[in-house]
Amino acid sequence: MRIARRTLLLGSAGTLLAGPLPAFAAANRRADGPPMPPPSDDLPQRLPVTDPSRTLLSHGWLFHDGEVETPPPADHEETYMNAKAGGARGPAAVDYDDSDWQPVQIPHDWASFQPFVKTANVSQGYRPRGIGWYRRTLRLDPADNGKKLELQFGAIATNATIWVNGSVVAHNFSGYNSIYVDLTPFARYGDDLNVIVVRVDATAMEGWWYEGAGMYRHVWLARRPAVSIATDGVHGDPRQDASGQWRVPVTVTLESIADVARPATIEARLLDPSGREVARGTAQATVQPLTRGQASLTLDAGTPQLWSVERPQLYTLVTRLVGDTATSDERRTAIGFRTVRFDANRGCFVNDRPVKLKGVCLHQDHAGVGVAIPDALLEWRLQRMKDTGVNAIRCSHNAPAPELLDYADRMGFLVMNENRQFNPAPEYLDQLEWLVRRDRNHPSVILWSVFNEEPMQGTHAGVEMVRRMAAAVHALDDSRPVTAAMNGLFYEPENVSQVVGVMGFNYYQKEYDKFHALNPTKPSTSSEDTSAFMTRGAFANDKDAHVISSYDTEAAPWGATYRDGWKLIADRPFVAGGFTWTGFDYHGEPTPYEWPTIASFFGILDLCGFAKTAYDIRRAQWIDDQPVVAIAPHWTWPGKEGQPTKLLVTSNADRVVVRLNGKTVGEAAVDRIMGNEWTVPYAPGTIEAIAYRGGREVARASHVTAGQPVALRLTPARRVMAGDGEDTQPITIDAVDAQGRHVPTANLATSFTVTGASIIGVGNGDPNSHEPEKGNARSLFNGLAQIIVQADTGRGRIAVRATAPGLKPATLTIDRLAATPRGAEPIVRATSQLTGWRRSPLTADRPDPAAPEGKGWERTSVGKPLAPDAATGWRLYRAKVTPKKIIATQGGTLRLDSVAGRGELWIDGRRVAVKSNAAPAPLTAAWPTGAGEHVVTVLLEQTAAAPAGLPGMVVVEHSAR
Ligand code: GAL
Repeated sequence: MRIARRTLLLGSAGTLLAGPLPAFAAANRRADGPPMPPPSDDLPQRLPVTDPSRTLLSHGWLFHDGEVETPPPADHEETYMNAKAGGARGPAAVDYDDSDWQPVQIPHDWASFQPFVKTANVSQGYRPRGIGWYRRTLRLDPADNGKKLELQFGAIATNATIWVNGSVVAHNFSGYNSIYVDLTPFARYGDDLNVIVVRVDATAMEGWWYEGAGMYRHVWLARRPAVSIATDGVHGDPRQDASGQWRVPVTVTLESIADVARPATIEARLLDPSGREVARGTAQATVQPLTRGQASLTLDAGTPQLWSVERPQLYTLVTRLVGDTATSDERRTAIGFRTVRFDANRGCFVNDRPVKLKGVCLHQDHAGVGVAIPDALLEWRLQRMKDTGVNAIRCSHNAPAPELLDYADRMGFLVMNENRQFNPAPEYLDQLEWLVRRDRNHPSVILWSVFNEEPMQGTHAGVEMVRRMAAAVHALDDSRPVTAAMNGLFYEPENVSQVVGVMGFNYYQKEYDKFHALNPTKPSTSSEDTSAFMTRGAFANDKDAHVISSYDTEAAPWGATYRDGWKLIADRPFVAGGFTWTGFDYHGEPTPYEWPTIASFFGILDLCGFAKTAYDIRRAQWIDDQPVVAIAPHWTWPGKEGQPTKLLVTSNADRVVVRLNGKTVGEAAVDRIMGNEWTVPYAPGTIEAIAYRGGREVARASHVTAGQPVALRLTPARRVMAGDGEDTQPITIDAVDAQGRHVPTANLATSFTVTGASIIGVGNGDPNSHEPEKGNARSLFNGLAQIIVQADTGRGRIAVRATAPGLKPATLTIDRLAATPRGAEPIVRATSQLTGWRRSPLTADRPDPAAPEGKGWERTSVGKPLAPDAATGWRLYRAKVTPKKIIATQGGTLRLDSVAGRGELWIDGRRVAVKSNAAPAPLTAAWPTGAGEHVVTVLLEQTAAAPAGLPGMVVVEHSAR
């Protein structure tokens, strides 16, 4: 149905605005400032703890880029052991030497570190993805024994196999769903360490966009009592009755690892937005061993404050398994009170008031970091969407990060939540059910989308598939309609529009009326539209250079310009709204140009979140609560003096006047959707648009011709950062002229240094650039570049300095405020444990520690309490060890946790330490570098008063890792 996507033809505006604006005021850009919002003095909002039983497992992972070949088992014994629980071989083996792997922090997208390669997959942005391995050593306290332990992987791109202590615990085949692993039966405690191994096969593709590679969402470890609240086990489902009163039916799923049936009491409390308790109830359940049970109750909420896009009031449902510290378990779930309905003639209603969906489709992807987007950067991106006037988000085409919905709840977005695979087979239905179970409490979610553009959408099979998927959704959540994003075939005798609650149009905008006439009772929305192209800051097409004008004249053949596309939606009350493809540019799916283009041109904002003309067009169309005006293009066109230059002015006021160097060159009644255009001869100076309402000036925007760049400038999104090791923000670099004005044409190479934070990525929004997105250098593209910094921990200063040859450097200081890092599992250092100990017979004379083993030597174990022993004399204890590679090359420490008796410590025939006191005490010595096997010998003297031996562990450890 779709016109062949790659045979495209190429066929309008950027801007500034002024006027009274709200606090994080998007777009109040000064003519001489960088075209970004002014820095804020606020910290990012830290998402509240929803599950206090969890700690982050973000640090301490070691990564290997590429496959690690494991030879097949060599003989019967190896084959036999390979088939046993715990018997994984190669890099999945517990004792595999991973010490030379690279330490990484989660979220991590290894594809974002790769160069662009012409032969790599075009849709994935020409980045090799391949295979990668992660390993993490985990120490569990003996006090954790008896608890329910669960590993939670937010998502892994794409196919993953997970081992715990040498046993496979999960095979996962989607890059978008969470993986919950019950660690309990595999767990080891105390000095018996656990090893978690993840092999990721990112050669698999699930999408036709850049999907990244690796563990790109948070990883958690939950420690819960034996009877506990299951993950995603709370459902708070606010309902309004006919009299307008609200109640919250609450269902809590419980699970148990206990060995007997246990009674459980669940207490549920409802807190209003100020934290005041407004309702409370309890329910009982008996949970059988190793099964799940449910407890249900209903809270009366009366007439609560409603959740809406404008006032996203959130209540907190606190569900607690009642018990003492060891047996209680709590979840804090944000819920909101709102009604949503779709009307076939009048669109979407929230709380019985019509809301036109001014939506965007988003992929999780940003310049510099790829799909591994830290929470604070995600919040910043969503704030950029708010600034654009967006009130709705489509999670295209996959389950979003849970944090996206947490922010959407708080910031007031309506969300079309979407699964990835169109398939009702059990494994895939599991993924859909997981999504609904995880996300159904969010007031922001208003629609479940079960597919995007499926060729079977107009067939009997397609209908049968959707029926099953919709039924699965509604069994878990009957409060929201199911939709499907159709691109055609909706007039077929059997088609999917017949079995969804809301018809979703991807493009096909000219069909809105006919479909509505034929299906007058079916609510509809655009699920996707626009697909227009713009290169930020460019105002002419250049086919050879793969540059596309930002005057809003270019769109995919199946799409429409920003202005045409929205007009078709805005003019039709029965179309609930639209979802622009896309809010931000993204890596991959380079359309309409391919290599060397590596990213899309579709975004309202570019890959860094810098505004294209589309941003101003959408603001004029979508923002109602403040006057806006903008004018395109910028006004620095040396050499074009006197040439006719097109102007596109966008505003939501009544009238605009355009002045060039103080002289009026245009005036018109505002066309809020299509904008107003003029052509004027270019003359350097000031181009200005003044917007009026009722004859009064309400907003003004201007560009001033800039001179040659003489200095760099750094502008952060925020002047403060949290010293929690996670806070992240983008910093804009631009070049200014001698008057300090932004130079929109500068394309200079810049480089930077940062202290007090680390640079986790760089970008400039140029879809044709092959510069690395990691490191400390990036060219300005049409005047702008971005560095993304992540704060170190603790209070201090972050200092950023940017330089470019021939320009005055820029410096910036950001306050790093004291902040408690989120609870995280400690890193476990690389150790090689000494095992296989042997000891000499007890002798009256001091033996030579360098002497070889002889008659009477026997096996012995260390690390256990010593038995009483009245015999006296001397003894040698000996073990051989091949230390981990990193220790062999860099050295380390030999650590004996407890040595009883007087004695000496020898390594490879050399004495390295002496212990002169008989009482049990630790003993350490420097470990020499050198590969291969080393011999450790401990000489101990036993007296009648004090038995000698090694009651503690003996390890060789690296000093840093
Ligand atoms: C749509 C599709 C999107 C993206 C877009 C590009 O058909 O749903 O994922 O490919 O086209 O125009």
